[in-house]
Amino acid sequence: MRKPIIAGNWKMNKTPAEAEALVKELKPLVKDAACDVVVCVPAVDFAAVSNAIQGSNIHLGAQNVHFAASGAYTGELSADMLKAAGVEYVIIGHSERRQYFGETDKTVNQRVRAAVAAGLKVILCVGENKEEREAGYTDALVAYQTLIALNGLTDAEVADVIIAYEPVWAIGTGLTATDEQANETIGVIRRTVAQKYGAEIGDKIRIQYGGSMNPKNVKGLMAQPEIDGGLIGGASLKAPDFSLVVNYDK
Ligand code: PGA
Repeated sequence: MRKPIIAGNWKMNKTPAEAEALVKELKPLVKDAACDVVVCVPAVDFAAVSNAIQGSNIHLGAQNVHFAASGAYTGELSADMLKAAGVEYVIIGHSERRQYFGETDKTVNQRVRAAVAAGLKVILCVGENKEEREAGYTDALVAYQTLIALNGLTDAEVADVIIAYEPVWAIGTGLTATDEQANETIGVIRRTVAQKYGAEIGDKIRIQYGGSMNPKNVKGLMAQPEIDGGLIGGASLKAPDFSLVVNYDK
C-alpha cells in the first residue's frame, strides 16, 4: 500500500514571521496525520520553518531547484544549498514555472536529476492546459512529460519520485477535475511508469492530484484508487483549511 502524501505549495506567499506563525498553528492540528505532511515554502522562509517544525511530523520542501552544483546563475539555488537549509522535498516543473519562467521538459529533467543526486525527494508536476484537454491530448502529453522528466534516473530513484498531476485549468481557478477525471489521468501516468520501469515501480510510485483541492473535495478525490495525495496551493495558506485536507480520513 502506498502512503498518501499531502503537500502545501505556498507559492509566493508568507514572510518568515507569517510562515512561523502558520506552521506553529498547523503543528498540533496535523500531529495525528496518517499521511506524510509537507510544506513547500519560499526560500526566505526555510530557516523559520525548519526551526518551527522541529520535533513535528511536518517536512520542509522548496518550490524549485537549479540543476548546476554552483556557478553564475543569478537568483538560483542549488540542491546542496537546499539540503543545507534543512529542505527534504522539492517541487519541480510546476506549471507556473513552465508558463512564466520558461521551464521546458528538458530543464525539468535536468533539475530532477540534480535534486535526486543530492538526495532530495522530488515532487514532479505534470499536467495539461484547457486547450490540450479539449483537443484530446491529455494522455499523450502527461505520458511524455513524465517520461522526459524521469529520463536518466535509476529504477530505484524513479520509485521514490512523487508525481503531482495538476491540470493547469484547475490551478487556482476553483475548477477541480472531477474525481473520475483525476483518477483516470493519474492511472495513465501510473501505467506509463509501469510500462517503462516495470509493474512493481508502477505500483509503488506515489501520484498526487493538484488543482483547487480543498477541505470540501478532498474526500472524494482521495477515495479514488489511483490518487495518493494532493499538492495544495490556496488551501494550504490557512492552518484550519490545510489541516482539514491533511486529516481527510478522520
Ligand atoms: P491550487 O494550487 O490548490 O491553489 O489550485 C495548486 C498548485 O498549483 O500546486
